[in-house]
Amino acid sequence: MTELLIVGAGGFGREVLTYAQDMELKVSGFLDENAGALQNFGLPVGVIGTLSEHRFAEGERVIVAVGDPLVRRKLARQVVAQGGQLFTLIHPTAYVARNALVEAGCIICPFAMVGAHSHVGWNTAINTYASVGHDARIGAHTVFSPYSVVNGHVTLGEAVFLGTHASVTPGKTVGLNSKISAGSVVSRTVEVGSLVSGNPAKGRVMFATQLDE
Ligand SMILES: CC(C)(COP(=O)(O)OP(=O)(O)OC[C@H]1O[C@@H](n2cnc3c(N)ncnc32)[C@H](O)[C@@H]1OP(=O)(O)O)[C@@H](O)C(=O)NCCC(=O)NCCS
Repeated sequence: MTELLIVGAGGFGREVLTYAQDMELKVSGFLDENAGALQNFGLPVGVIGTLSEHRFAEGERVIVAVGDPLVRRKLARQVVAQGGQLFTLIHPTAYVARNALVEAGCIICPFAMVGAHSHVGWNTAINTYASVGHDARIGAHTVFSPYSVVNGHVTLGEAVFLGTHASVTPGKTVGLNSKISAGSVVSRTVEVGSLVSGNPAKGRVMFATQLDE
């Protein structure tokens, strides 16, 4: 039987445990540097060690439950480098079009929606009520906060962060490692490594424009 390990024992990790319980999946524990992260939550499983020290067993699958795209990227690559296999969690209340492609390690949270012919790159997290429009291309490690919306034919680069209620209008492109502030409306191309805010979203390059190898 598949046993899930959740990397990250913060708030998102506890949410992901709940989703796994909804789906009657077996979670064997959390991997986190903070051994005491789950004290006082009364959960049936706790932190069993760190990712760096974990030796993956046959049948174990991993979910990276962290909300920062660059941290997600680092941890997921570490899992793969250590021989771990990522699990794709799609909550039963989410809608995923039958012809959408959702790659390994994605988390599709309750009431999220992934539209027709879209492609969601590996290790992407799509939080509650967020949506990916038809034909959208979503780069790996990207994080959709609750209620964020990417319309049809949008392209997001790798490791993009969308704040809650952010929207990207049809066909627009957001460069890799960019952050879209909560509530912003992107109606123009966002350059790689930018932080943009407001409606229409404006900003400038603030972050790395290339990701480490
Ligand atoms: C994208 C984000 C994380 C960037 O955070 P940050 O790097 O700390 O940047 P700041 O919040 O300091 O904002 C940078 C600038 O954008 C402005 N800004 C931030 N959010 C804004 C918004 N929603 N609308 C308009 N302007 C905004 C700030 O006022 C600041 O302007 P200044 O440089 O003139 O002072 C943050 O703006 C954001 O959206 N946070 C919400 C995240 C969220 O939705 N989380 C849900 C998790 S489940």
